[in-house]
Amino acid sequence: MKIRLDKYLCDMQVGSRSQVKDAIKKGKVLLNQNVCKANDTKIDPAIDLVFYDGKELVYQTLYYYMLHKPAGLVTATTDKKEPTVMDALRDLPGKNLAPVGRLDKDTEGLLLLTNDGEMAHALLAPKKHVPKTYYVLLEKSLQDVDIRRLEEGIDIGDAKPCLPAKVKAIGALEIELTICEGRFHQVKRMMEKVDNKVCYLKRISFGPLVLDEKLEKGSYRPLTEKEIEALKNRA
Ligand code: URA
Repeated sequence: MKIRLDKYLCDMQVGSRSQVKDAIKKGKVLLNQNVCKANDTKIDPAIDLVFYDGKELVYQTLYYYMLHKPAGLVTATTDKKEPTVMDALRDLPGKNLAPVGRLDKDTEGLLLLTNDGEMAHALLAPKKHVPKTYYVLLEKSLQDVDIRRLEEGIDIGDAKPCLPAKVKAIGALEIELTICEGRFHQVKRMMEKVDNKVCYLKRISFGPLVLDEKLEKGSYRPLTEKEIEALKNRA
């Protein structure tokens, strides 16, 4: 599909519409190795070579980010009252980004954001059973009988019991819990059913994606090609 050169440059976040027009007028844009000074030149991003300020631009329309969600943000694209995860992603390239799935306001950790609706839909499909692992700090130690109930598939009062979860004890009050569904407040409700309480919850993996330890709370980074490929395979 052909688009105008100025629109292409705006989509690539090279600058605002007026900055882009100015750059084109000043001869900073090469189209197929020739200076192009006409804003409205129609180009095909899949075929034409565009250089801006000496650098080749690679057209991208799908974007994937990993956010280390801090507590205090709601997982939504907009909210009338509360700050949302989108507030952590200011000035990002990629229009129509949205979170994939949901973390509670007080939950921290790995949140995937993308404008690849098809991938998001596939990753969230219940029958895909995409595993999510949470670090959970509990009020009390889990007993063996509790672990057995969680691992067999605990009934939390929904139409069906939960699918079997995996519990890995990592301390007296700490576990890593892997679940393959995404029910509302699922981890908290599972813990309540074994007469316990979640004091702190952090998602550490989502399918093949693992929270990057170098990402500070509240910061984000684009996924690597390898991570995108692994997600595509999982979806
Ligand atoms: N389970 C919960 O209870 N809360 C979350 O944020 C995620 C999973």
